[in-house]
Amino acid sequence: MKIIIRPDATAACTTVADMMRTVVRAKGRAVLGLATGRTMEAVYADLLSQEARDPVGLSGCTTFNLDEYCGLAPDSAQSYRAYMEAHLFEAAGLTRAQTHVPDGRASDIDAACTAYENAIRAAGGIDLQLLGIGETGHIGFNEPLSSFASRTRRVQLDARTRSQNAEMFAGLDEDVPTDAVTMGVGTILEARRIVLLATGAAKAGIVARALQGPITAMISATALHFHPDVTVVLDTAAAADLVD
Ligand code: GLP
Repeated sequence: MKIIIRPDATAACTTVADMMRTVVRAKGRAVLGLATGRTMEAVYADLLSQEARDPVGLSGCTTFNLDEYCGLAPDSAQSYRAYMEAHLFEAAGLTRAQTHVPDGRASDIDAACTAYENAIRAAGGIDLQLLGIGETGHIGFNEPLSSFASRTRRVQLDARTRSQNAEMFAGLDEDVPTDAVTMGVGTILEARRIVLLATGAAKAGIVARALQGPITAMISATALHFHPDVTVVLDTAAAADLVD
């Protein structure tokens, strides 16, 4: 595992955008695994502005998002599909056919999850998977006690996660869906390359436990130690609790 510490969040996000651009430039029609959350907004903004100045072929990529809430209305602005359209897909010229977000509204969720796994395989697997980290240590929505072998599936969200994400639901924890669909830890570990980004002081504690604590299913991000090509990009605030 490689750890890069940048002076601030802007620099950390640029580092991640540069890594994604390097993969897209090298691969041509790359398959990108994408993440949502406040942390990623600056990454996507940076990707779009760099693409406008010096295109590497972002519009030719195929994308797979990590997760989606269950039970939101189809046109909900809080859905991760809506987030991705607003922050990246529309401006990047990425069409519905190129972009995949798990279906949290499918009538048969299990079948939709199997289809999602099959679509990743049919695309040739993920070249680069972008990850954030939640305060429970989740990657995607793999809450504590997710098996390291888990696949795309429906999960219940931890109360801490619902609270952490309440800001997008007018601050009301009870309006955050109770369930979500997420790629499994096992699915994530099959990506050829993984980049985890965490910024801000609120992430310092969980970052230290994820990177320097014991490997445990209580913190899904500790599974990343089993992957041969992981880069963790932090700002100094998120790196503050790491010990030399
Ligand atoms: C959600 C997503 C995660 C993301 C996390 C961090 O819970 N499911 O994939 O890593 O948010 O979000 P933020 O960047 O807003 O802290």
